[in-house]
Amino acid sequence: MIVTIDGPAGTGKSTVARRLAKELNFDFLDTGAMYRMLALKALRQGTDFDSSDALAELAEQTSVDFEEGVPMLDGEPVGREIRTSEVSRAASFVARIPEVRQILVEWQRNYADGRDIVCEGRDQGTVAFPIAECKFFLTASPDERARRRLSDLEDQGISANYDDLLQEQIERDERDLNRPVSPLKAAEDAMTIDTTELSVVDVIEQLRGIVQQRMSQSA
Ligand code: DC
Repeated sequence: MIVTIDGPAGTGKSTVARRLAKELNFDFLDTGAMYRMLALKALRQGTDFDSSDALAELAEQTSVDFEEGVPMLDGEPVGREIRTSEVSRAASFVARIPEVRQILVEWQRNYADGRDIVCEGRDQGTVAFPIAECKFFLTASPDERARRRLSDLEDQGISANYDDLLQEQIERDERDLNRPVSPLKAAEDAMTIDTTELSVVDVIEQLRGIVQQRMSQSA
């Protein structure tokens, strides 16, 4: 069974998806990490972010993978390096390029083939897995999302400023929502859940209940 969880950053999506997968004994795929890995490589190499061709070529020449959940860029573990604000910003530029998306979506489909898996991102229910049995779209208010991101970064020992994060988030949302290819939006058959007032545990419980119900229906 494929479960997709889409939505903007800061909705608790990553934490929820990861823990839900663990509780269900499903595999987990963090597709945002894939765009982040390409962005990190582009930054390191000084690739021109205005050149779609250069970014597409970079994607073709790059190996992105996960080893026991750790993002591997050309064989190098980059779990921490891909979480900086600079990479977050760069990833939203990389994610606008259709050829890049095509390569990564194909990789995602191959990876998910034959697995019970929770796939998390922006286009998992709409583009990567339109036939997924269970689709969720998580939202939360912009303030709450920026507060969560600040706390996530602090937990990782990365210092940040709330106002800067909120501003970056607004700009990133703008790019994710308005890009011509695979913009961030809920699939028609996705269940939308506003997490502003909910704890991570509450959200997981809700989602798990729904997935288990679908699993028993399809058994
Ligand atoms: O979820 P995240 O913040 O790690 O995602 C990083 C960037 O990649 C963000 O700008 C959205 C983009 N992304 C995307 O376009 N499609 C996905 N399936 C996952 C992430």
